[in-house]
Amino acid sequence: MLECIGLKKYYNEKYVVNDLSFNVNKGEVFAFLGNNGAGKTTTIKMILGLVKKDSGEIMHDDNILIGYSPETPYFPPFLTGYEVLDYYAKIQKIPHSIRRTEIMKLLDSVGLENNKTRVRNYSKGMLQRLALAQSLLGDPELLILDEPTAGLDALGRLEIIQLIGKLKNAGKTIIINSHILNDIERVCDRGIIIRNGVKLGEWNKSDNNEESLEEIFIELVGGIKE
Ligand SMILES: Nc1ncnc2c1ncn2[C@@H]1O[C@H](COP(=O)(O)OP(=O)(O)OP(=O)(O)O)[C@@H](O)[C@H]1O
Ligand SMILES: [Mg+2]
Repeated sequence: MLECIGLKKYYNEKYVVNDLSFNVNKGEVFAFLGNNGAGKTTTIKMILGLVKKDSGEIMHDDNILIGYSPETPYFPPFLTGYEVLDYYAKIQKIPHSIRRTEIMKLLDSVGLENNKTRVRNYSKGMLQRLALAQSLLGDPELLILDEPTAGLDALGRLEIIQLIGKLKNAGKTIIINSHILNDIERVCDRGIIIRNGVKLGEWNKSDNNEESLEEIFIELVGGIKE
């Protein structure tokens, strides 16, 4: 579904993404992991074409629709959740005849139905849910979620993870970047761990590792081996 080969990005005389290669298969939930500043968001933005890569290749199926939930969602504060989705649906040219039904279905799926609150009064959890709903507009085949559970309480996180599980069952391919490795272990099939833009290792749930993902992460990123 997606293949990145030898990606590089240079900022301020330093590579923040350095010769990074990975592939994401259709139908899998892929974990893109790394410490703060490792280059995850930069890589995601290169895949989306929001940041220009310095070199390397990004290949995906032609005309693929990619849904994106950003690390720091921002929506016009004076709009309600419904109005936000209506605004994005118009940009996507979703036909008027199905727009309302689609938006209501999405708001319902993220638990924001019947909500008249304006975005300026949203809690962090509500904002994350709205960002997820927005990423699902137009029914994209590939979803890229940059820290979709950041700032949520345990129940809110579980709900989002369950929703991501449902999306996987519905056949979506999903890339998640998160520091909450417990969430990653729950929902992801496999992934990679990077530091300073370089791939350190891979993780695969089906390997039935004796160590938790957190232990693997700390060993790799911290260079700690007991
Ligand atoms: N526009 C920019 N100009 C200069 N440096 C940048 C820019 N964007 C990112 N960086 C730098 O690139 C590095 C990688 O940043 P990035 O946001 O991709 O990390 P990340 O892995 O997403 O981190 P986090 O987990 O904290 O979100 C950081 O050192 C950051 O300061
Ligand atoms: Mg980031």
